Amino acid sequence: MKKIAIDPITRIEGHLKVELVVEDGVIREARSSGALYRGLEQILVGRHPLDAQKITQRICGVCPLAHSTAASLCLDDALDLDVPPNGRLLSALILGANFLHNHILHFYHLALPDYLDPGGLPAGLAGFLSPGASPQDWRGTREERERLGQDYLAALTMRRKAQELVALFGGKMPHDMAIVPGGVTYRPTFGDVEAFRFRLGELRDFIERTYFPDVLLLAKTYPDHFALGRTHSFLSYGGFPEADGTPTFPAGVILNGEATPFRPAEITEEVAHAWYAGDGGKLGESFPMPQVGKQGAYSWIKAPRFRGEPCEVGPAARLLVGLEFGSEPLRAAVEEGMRAAGVRVEELGSVAGRHLARAIEARYLGAKLAEWLEALDLRKPIAVPFKIPAEGQGVGLAEAPRGAVGHWIKIKGGKIDHYQVISPTTWNASPRDDRGKPGPLEEALSGTQVEGDGLALAGRIVRSFDPCLACAVQ
Ligand code: NI
Repeated sequence: MKKIAIDPITRIEGHLKVELVVEDGVIREARSSGALYRGLEQILVGRHPLDAQKITQRICGVCPLAHSTAASLCLDDALDLDVPPNGRLLSALILGANFLHNHILHFYHLALPDYLDPGGLPAGLAGFLSPGASPQDWRGTREERERLGQDYLAALTMRRKAQELVALFGGKMPHDMAIVPGGVTYRPTFGDVEAFRFRLGELRDFIERTYFPDVLLLAKTYPDHFALGRTHSFLSYGGFPEADGTPTFPAGVILNGEATPFRPAEITEEVAHAWYAGDGGKLGESFPMPQVGKQGAYSWIKAPRFRGEPCEVGPAARLLVGLEFGSEPLRAAVEEGMRAAGVRVEELGSVAGRHLARAIEARYLGAKLAEWLEALDLRKPIAVPFKIPAEGQGVGLAEAPRGAVGHWIKIKGGKIDHYQVISPTTWNASPRDDRGKPGPLEEALSGTQVEGDGLALAGRIVRSFDPCLACAVQ
């Protein structure tokens, strides 16, 4: 038996430690540990409710748009605001542009180096990506290696264009100025819309001709990775409301293969193995306070559960829930993407499945962004006015590139009385819960057959979730 600690895991956002127990070539046990406490929920108490949109974005520089969206939805809910179609569309365009950036970043610059033999990379890049980072397990031809190396470089340019896409309507990136309760702050000019259309066209072209084919190449080269890092339950809060308010990605849960409707009241946040006092508090009412040195605890990440079950969130979860509860066009896009890769539904919640799900989602969202852009009517309102009430409470449930993100607010005396955040990686990288059940990432690692110390495969499994630790611990 060998105990291995990977601390920190590189090429993810933030500080994640993973401990593995490897015996007879199998990972018998895995522990995922968030090594940082930040306390953003505490910082918000006593502040003006509109500060939440600004402060919660500072949870993370990678996924701030999802937090400004969830924070704004919280007040939309608390104040019962009727956001005009333009407000919904512009918010969706800004957040959607961030999804495209995220998925390209994740595949090329965070995950792909796990599969690249530095010997096949363009000059300069090989030295930048240290050979030690590669497991030397690239199974493709020299031409395929070179193609992926070139695309790694091209993806840097496309990421810049995607950030520009966010900034056109969002003001800047990171930390947008536009998504607010009641709608958006900025009415784009016709010039902005044209600039958005042009960059979106370039990005969709890259996704169609380069990103999606590269993901299919990886899927073809590593068919066994559809059996690697599997999980069994999936959750989506649903997101990207269309102009009429219907979510583009539906809400829903799949518990061990059984589809079930999502109800926020069935979420618990458990802390038996996290460094927090008490029993986890009540969602929307009270959050647990830190307790350093707590017996049996090993992470600053709490353990959210739905009906007591750990659930994977993210692109694979969104598409699986979409197949059960989604619109016909969404289901058709998912089925077409799975057919192209020759995979079955149950294989999406795996290492290769997560990469495929991200690429399918990027294609679908790219097309939706083009549709939403055409649906804008810039002569009509982009927001509704509102007044902060003395008392109130609201919930903001949205989807971030990495999965379901939820904010809960309670207002008293015109100030924030309580604020709570559950981020996607809080779900995915959670520790064991009150019943001792491992989190999704721990579940995905356990039982994996490995050669040697197992570090290479463990890295591929962890990175397939696209963890964001700053968000997970907030
Ligand atoms: Ni984040």
